[in-house]
Amino acid sequence: MKNLWLLICISHWAHTAATVDSCTSVAIANPVVPGALVTSLTASMVNDYSINITGENNNWPAQNITVSFCQVNVSLTHPGTGDLVLNQVWLPVTGWNGIFLGIGGGGYVAGSWSSLAPAVQRGYAAVSTDAGHRSNDSGDATSWALASDGNVNQYLLLDFASRSVHDMTVLGKAVTTSFYGSAPKFSYWQGCSTGGRQGMMEAQRYPDDYDGIVAAAPAVQWNDFTPAQQWPFTVMNNEGYAPPQCEFDAVNAATIAACDGLDGLEDGIIAAPGLCNFDPTSLIGKTYICDSDGSQRHFSNKTATVVKKIWQGPLTANGSSAWYGILPGTNFSSLAPTETFSNGTTIPQPFEISDSWYRNFLFKDPNYNTSNISYAQFPALTHQSHQEYDSVMGTADPDLSAFKARGGKMLTWQGLADNLIMPNGTMHYYDQVAALDPTVGDFYRAFFAPGVGHCGGGFGYIPIDILTALRGWVENGTAPGVLEAATAFAINGTIRTQNLCPYPSVSKYTGSGDPAQAASFACESNF
Ligand SMILES: *[C@@H]1O[C@H](CO)[C@@H](O)[C@H](O)[C@H]1NC(C)=O
Ligand SMILES: *[C@@H]1O[C@H](CO)[C@@H](O)[C@H](O)[C@H]1NC(C)=O
Ligand SMILES: *[C@@H]1O[C@H](CO)[C@@H](O)[C@H](O)[C@H]1NC(C)=O
Ligand SMILES: *[C@@H]1O[C@H](CO)[C@@H](O)[C@H](O)[C@H]1NC(C)=O
Ligand SMILES: *[C@@H]1O[C@H](CO)[C@@H](O)[C@H](O)[C@H]1NC(C)=O
Ligand SMILES: *[C@@H]1O[C@H](CO)[C@@H](O)[C@H](O)[C@H]1NC(C)=O
Ligand SMILES: *[C@@H]1O[C@H](CO)[C@@H](O)[C@H](O)[C@H]1NC(C)=O
Ligand SMILES: *[C@@H]1O[C@H](CO)[C@@H](O)[C@H](O)[C@H]1NC(C)=O
Ligand SMILES: *[C@@H]1O[C@H](CO)[C@@H](O)[C@H](O)[C@H]1NC(C)=O
Ligand SMILES: *[C@@H]1O[C@H](CO)[C@@H](O)[C@H](O)[C@H]1NC(C)=O
Ligand SMILES: *[C@@H]1O[C@H](CO)[C@@H](O)[C@H](O)[C@H]1NC(C)=O
Ligand SMILES: *[C@@H]1O[C@H](CO)[C@@H](O)[C@H](O)[C@H]1NC(C)=O
Repeated sequence: MKNLWLLICISHWAHTAATVDSCTSVAIANPVVPGALVTSLTASMVNDYSINITGENNNWPAQNITVSFCQVNVSLTHPGTGDLVLNQVWLPVTGWNGIFLGIGGGGYVAGSWSSLAPAVQRGYAAVSTDAGHRSNDSGDATSWALASDGNVNQYLLLDFASRSVHDMTVLGKAVTTSFYGSAPKFSYWQGCSTGGRQGMMEAQRYPDDYDGIVAAAPAVQWNDFTPAQQWPFTVMNNEGYAPPQCEFDAVNAATIAACDGLDGLEDGIIAAPGLCNFDPTSLIGKTYICDSDGSQRHFSNKTATVVKKIWQGPLTANGSSAWYGILPGTNFSSLAPTETFSNGTTIPQPFEISDSWYRNFLFKDPNYNTSNISYAQFPALTHQSHQEYDSVMGTADPDLSAFKARGGKMLTWQGLADNLIMPNGTMHYYDQVAALDPTVGDFYRAFFAPGVGHCGGGFGYIPIDILTALRGWVENGTAPGVLEAATAFAINGTIRTQNLCPYPSVSKYTGSGDPAQAASFACESNF
C-alpha cells in the first residue's frame, strides 16, 4: 500500500515536471526503435503556431488554432535500406492529459504535421511520420515509388504501408515518457482513409501499440478498391463516351429524387442506398439543364451505360462482380472526373491515386498511358495487384483476436456517399470480422453516415467527436450505442442532427417528430 502511494506521488510529481527548459535534445532521451537506427533527435519550443482548419481533417472539426508546444523531431533509418524517415512528436508543455495520440495520413501521404495542432490544443502528446517519402503529394506516388527504372522501392512502400507507423508509435511513446517523466496512461490512434488503413494495420499487426483506434473510411482491401477506383475511367475509355460533369450531376439529382424517400424520410439524402434500384436507362431521351452553362440537353444511351457500369463496379474475367461500385447518390466527380473543352468535347480523366498505382506499382513506368486499358485486360491487373501487394498493402486480415485480447477498442465511421472508397467494402470487412467472432461488437463497432462523402463533405450527418466516444469506451467501459448528434446542413442551410447507429442497424425516422432532431430517429434492423 505504501509503495502504491509512493508510486502515485512520484508519478504525480513527474507528470508536472515538464517545462520549457526540458524541451531540449539533451534533456530528452534518444528512443530505441527495434530494427531502426535513430540518426537524430532535435527538440525546441514552437510558440504561437497558428493554423486554420477549414474542413474535416483527420476527424478534427474545422477550427482556428494557435498553440505552443515542444516539437521533437526524430529521424531514423533502417540500416541497409537507405531510407530516412522523419517523425515529429508535439508535446504540450502544460496541461498534458496523460494521453498519447498517433495521427495518420491520407492518400499516398503517411502522416500530417498540421493535424498534430488540434491534438496539442486538446492536451494530447501526438506523433506523425513522413514514412521516408518527404513528399506531401497525397494523389501521386511518382516521386518515391520507383527506386530505379522498372524497380519498385519495396522498402519505402513497406515504410508507407506499416513499418513507419509502428516505429513512430514506439519512438513517440518513448519521447513522451522521457519528456514528462511518466508513461502515457492510454494510447490512441486517429485517422481517416489512409489514416484509417494505418489504424487497422496497427490493430491487425501491432495490436499492443494502441488501446483505442479510430479507423475512419479505412483504405483496407487496397488491391480491391484501388482497381475499382480506376474502373470509371476504364469504362469511359472503353465505351468511348465521357459525360460532362453536369450530366453526372443531373443523373445524381434524378437518383436522389427517386430514392430519397425509401428510408422513410424525404430529406435530400439517400439513407437506404441498398434499396435504390433506380435504372439510368429510364433517363434516356429525357432533358436536363446543365448546371454549368444553363443549357438544355438530353440524356443519351451512353450516359445510361456508363452510369450503370460505374455503379456495378469492376467485373472478374468470368463476368462476376470483382468489387463494389460507389453507392447511388454518390458524387461522380471524384472517381469519374471529366474535362469539357470550349468546343464542347469532353474527355475522361483518371482518378489520380488509382492511376498512380497502375502506372508506378503495376506497370512500373510513371509515364504509362492508362487510357488504353481494355475491359479484357482489367481483371488481370487486379489479380497482379493482389499477388504483388496484398501482404504489404492489403490490411484486411479479419482476425482481430490479439487486439481484442489486449482489451483494445476500435471505431470505424464512413460516409455512405463516400466518393473514393466503396462503403460496401468496409461492411464486407466488418462482416468477416463478425463471422470469425460473433462478439465483435464488444470491441469493434462501425457506423455509416448517410449522405456523407469521403472523410466528410456532402449534406449528411458527420459525427462530431469520435475520439471522445472511443475514450469513454476504453477508459470508462462505456460502449457507444450510437455516435451522437452528428450534424448536417440541408441544402437550404437548415441545421439537422441525427445519431449514427452501429452497423448493421440503421437510423430510421420514427414517422413523427421534427426530422431535424436526433430524437425523431431510432436504430432499427432495417428500413
Ligand atoms: C522539425 O522539422 C521541421 C520540418 O523540417 C522544421 O521546420 C522544424 O524546425 C524542426 N524542428 C526541430 C525542433 O528540429
Ligand atoms: C485564421 O483565422 C484568424 C481568425 O480566427 C485570422 O485572424 C487569421 O488571419 C486566419 N489565418 C489565415 C491564414 O487564414
Ligand atoms: C477561422 O477564421 C476565419 C477568418 O480567417 C473565419 O472566416 C472562420 O469562420 C474561422 N473558423 C472557425 C471555425 O472559427
Ligand atoms: C508541398 O511541398 C511543396 C514543395 O516542398 C510546397 O511548395 C508546398 O507548399 C507543400 N504543400 C503543402 C500543402 O504542404
Ligand atoms: C430545408 O430542407 C429540409 C430537408 O430537406 C426540409 O425538411 C426543410 O423543410 C427545409 N426548410 C426550408 C425553410 O425550406
Ligand atoms: C451495399 O451496402 C448497402 C447499404 O448497407 C446494402 O444495402 C447493399 O446490399 C450492399 N450491396 C452489396 C452489393 O453488397
Ligand atoms: C439506345 O439503345 C437502344 C437499345 O440498344 C436502341 O434501341 C436505341 O435505338 C438507342 N437509342 C439511340 C438514340 O441510340
Ligand atoms: C468467377 O471468378 C471468380 C474469381 O475471379 C470466382 O470467385 C467465381 O467463383 C467465378 N464464378 C464462376 C461462375 O465461375
Ligand atoms: C476540342 O478541343 C480539344 C482541346 O483543345 C481538342 O483536343 C479537340 O480535338 C477538339 N475537338 C474538336 C472536335 O474540335
Ligand atoms: C493516351 O492514349 C490516348 C488514347 O490512345 C490518347 O488519346 C492520349 O493522347 C494519350 N495520352 C498521352 C499523354 O500520350
Ligand atoms: C458533386 O460534384 C459537383 C461537381 O461535379 C459539385 O458541384 C457538387 O457540389 C458536389 N456535390 C457534393 C454533395 O459534394
Ligand atoms: C468517465 O466517466 C466520468 C464520470 O462520468 C467522466 O467525468 C469522464 O469524462 C469519463 N471519461 C471519459 C474518457 O469518457
